[in-house]
Amino acid sequence: MATKVLMVCLGNICRSPLAEGIFRHLSHPSTYIVDSAGTANYHTGASPDRRSIAVAAKNGLDISGQKARQLTRNDLDAFDHILVMDEQNRRDALALCSTQTQRNKIELLTAASGHNATHIPDPYYGGEEGFETVFDLVSSCCNAWLAKH
Ligand code: 4NP
Repeated sequence: MATKVLMVCLGNICRSPLAEGIFRHLSHPSTYIVDSAGTANYHTGASPDRRSIAVAAKNGLDISGQKARQLTRNDLDAFDHILVMDEQNRRDALALCSTQTQRNKIELLTAASGHNATHIPDPYYGGEEGFETVFDLVSSCCNAWLAKH
């Protein structure tokens, strides 16, 4: 049975849609099912940020069909791994948990990587270059995560 991975950020419009698209591209659909969600509900139903869509397209990935949704308690049971982008996401996801089994599923995407990054920086209030940085960092972290699983 396929392993289910959920990518989580704050708004589910910048980082986690890129993480979902990149992870799907790097993995095999019979091995992994991937989705994404945000800890906040600000952008529920929205398409990814145009800057995320653009950096994905520049790298050959189409993430334009994704729609933002909020992380739910059900996700904590439905997914095997919940990969969060930063410490605030981790705290917010942990706050939804009611069992140790659920808590054990939550990990920083950067934890698997061999480099020094401690989190995926939020690019929302910055320029386009922040999205390039996110794309590269998420790609290397997804590769590293897949190599360890
Ligand atoms: P994301 O970025 O968590 O990577 O999707 C953000 C998107 C929206 C907001 C903050 C971060 N916001 O405050 O609306």
